[in-house]
Amino acid sequence: MKAKLEKIQASALADLHKVKTAAALEEWHVQYLGRKQGQMTEIMKSLGSLSIEEKREMGPKANETKKQLDAAYDSKKSELESSAGGGIDVTLPPTMPPQGHVHLVTQTIRDITDIFKRIGFTRVRHPEVEWDQYAFEGLNMPQGHPARDDWETFFITPEEATGKSMLLTPHTSNGQVREMEKGQLPIRMINISKCYRRQADVTHTQMFHQFEGLYIDENVSIQHLKGVMDYFAKSFFGPKREIRLRPFHFKFTEPSFEIDITCGLCYGKGCKFCKEGWVELGGSGMVHPNVLKAGKVPAGYSGFAFGWGVERVA
Ligand code: DAH
Repeated sequence: MKAKLEKIQASALADLHKVKTAAALEEWHVQYLGRKQGQMTEIMKSLGSLSIEEKREMGPKANETKKQLDAAYDSKKSELESSAGGGIDVTLPPTMPPQGHVHLVTQTIRDITDIFKRIGFTRVRHPEVEWDQYAFEGLNMPQGHPARDDWETFFITPEEATGKSMLLTPHTSNGQVREMEKGQLPIRMINISKCYRRQADVTHTQMFHQFEGLYIDENVSIQHLKGVMDYFAKSFFGPKREIRLRPFHFKFTEPSFEIDITCGLCYGKGCKFCKEGWVELGGSGMVHPNVLKAGKVPAGYSGFAFGWGVERVA
């Protein structure tokens, strides 16, 4: 038995030296230390049938050899893991930290676009460097009209010089005239873009965003306007919010309204933030006949429009 043990020890160590892969290592383990037919395991099992004297001699020797082979197996295993295959590959790209999120204005523009898309409004884009004709003239605000002053406009060429001045869009309403001019009816558009005004203080920036809606079809009434505004307010702010139409004046709509929404803190009861329960959202109204005329919309068609601030709703 002694000779057999020594033979196993020698061949196991020699074979282990030749092992180059994890699969070969496992084969080696089965052959020598495997629980069922491993050669070393067989030796350990047969110790039980030896005489007491033989046991005294062989017991410690066999144990020692078993320990030696176990240790050799462990060290070969970690050697293989750290060279190829397992372990840490420092050349792999690392797990990147979270990337943050899109800008709040971008997110809001996407939300607004989705909400209006569901009721058939298509997002359109129009120039932000624009002719006076589209930003004012076609919206029933002729040259020199005092109503223009409310828009604090950046004119690129002098306002009154040619009657064809160029400017930075102070609102998105230019999109109304440009859509009507295309001559395709009905119109269901949502124009979202940057607006520029000569205003800079704690509540105003010189560049901000608006979204402008225009719906023109046969027999469009204030009921449609109210329904769409209510649908948007509930989709964007939540089903518990109510809106109201407050009479106002814009040159390009008749009648005109400011749309208010119940306060999100007190739901219309009145609180420190809203005072009377309502918060202003933006302008709206039935498209003025002069604007329909400027846009060459045929008789029998009517429509409503609205223009709200993206930052404001956000
Ligand atoms: N253009 C207006 C503004 O900048 C907002 C507005 C009001 C747009 C009424 C509209 C409208 O289309 O019907 O304050």
